[in-house]
Amino acid sequence: MYICAFKFRVKMEYFVAKTFAGFESELFKELHSLGAHNCCKLNRAVSFEGDIDIMYRANYFCRTALRILWRRKSFRFKNNNDFYKNIFDYDASEVLSPDGTMAFRATIVDSIFATPLYASMLAKDALCDRFRDMFNKRPDVDKENPDVLFHLHIYKDEAHLFVDSSGESLHKRGYKVRNHPAPLNEVTAAALIMKSGWNADCDIIDPMCGGATILIEAAMKALNIPAGFYRREFGFYRWKNFDRKLWASIRNEADIADDVNVNFYGSDIDTRFLDIARSNIKQARLQDFILLENEKMQNSNPERTPSFVFLNPPYGERLSVEDITTLYKEIGNALKNRYTDCKAFIISSDAIALKSIGLKPFKKWSVMNGALDCQFVGFELFSGDRKSFVVKQKSKK
Ligand SMILES: C[S@@+](CC[C@H](N)C(=O)[O-])C[C@H]1O[C@@H](n2cnc3c(N)ncnc32)[C@H](O)[C@@H]1O
Repeated sequence: MYICAFKFRVKMEYFVAKTFAGFESELFKELHSLGAHNCCKLNRAVSFEGDIDIMYRANYFCRTALRILWRRKSFRFKNNNDFYKNIFDYDASEVLSPDGTMAFRATIVDSIFATPLYASMLAKDALCDRFRDMFNKRPDVDKENPDVLFHLHIYKDEAHLFVDSSGESLHKRGYKVRNHPAPLNEVTAAALIMKSGWNADCDIIDPMCGGATILIEAAMKALNIPAGFYRREFGFYRWKNFDRKLWASIRNEADIADDVNVNFYGSDIDTRFLDIARSNIKQARLQDFILLENEKMQNSNPERTPSFVFLNPPYGERLSVEDITTLYKEIGNALKNRYTDCKAFIISSDAIALKSIGLKPFKKWSVMNGALDCQFVGFELFSGDRKSFVVKQKSKK
């Protein structure tokens, strides 16, 4: 029997996944491997298309996404009235009930609107007027904890209306029960692990582990634990059209491993921070995989090599350091003398201190840790001189 394929084609929806600057390639790869169509790298974001299930999938599995926005309408407008009319024409009752709450966030570039707040207010009025027309009742505004959060992206006379399917930023995985004073963002940690090329094929060591973000993200990756596994809520839970059955079936797709062949070692000079790490690791139920020790990095010795070493040393911004140049110099010496055959990766916002490590990087990336501009630098550690190391590497190929 001949079946006309396009008859059964699912309607493609358009989404934008947001991330930090420098992680667009990692997010692109993740979305592509989840089955997203027409992925396209943008500035601090990746757009993609697919059936609605890709939205649930991206929220649950993407380690490098901060939020997933679902586009509901794109239009050009000439003036305020035109803008109002276009928003009025959108039937938001697909996601929001008249008894629900909502909020708008807007970004504007080269727009007729003087402020994003004005664009948000006008959009909110249009949406509420439409509800009044349809139901004789309008949703309330709740800026802190809305049932539905709308995003407006306005560039010149072009507007895009999105609903935010994530709610709280996806970096809030749900395992951080206690906060380190200078934590690495979870999305940043996951993206750095991806950039390093680690594929769960050797141990991970974090000799300045603080609250253990890198170790937890690495263990989650190795054990195939989805990024959203520990989260209690996603934005779409409160949408009218939330498909609970589909969501449950996507969660069931996760193929979490019971064990892995690699270990995760963390140490820190400060026992207070190790207590924080322990609480977070326990919350993630990863105590059997991550081993912690109270030790000064300069005295540490890796259990096994080759390993991947990740370092997020103090930058002198949020944690004060007496002499940052000396600390980074000592880090360089410890890596050179104690971590032979390992690959080490360091993230820091202090470019000058990074130079005092005194080793030649084989890779360098510009990345963000939250609001801080940072460098992420990779070193190959070997005994003897670089020339003999390079010759040895070439002969292996
Ligand atoms: C920027 S914080 C790391 C934060 C961590 N990545 C997280 O996500 O929570 C730097 C950590 O290095 C530790 N530290 C500073 N000097 C150290 C040293 N010489 N040896 C070991 N740890 C040290 C601090 O106690 C602090 O916890």
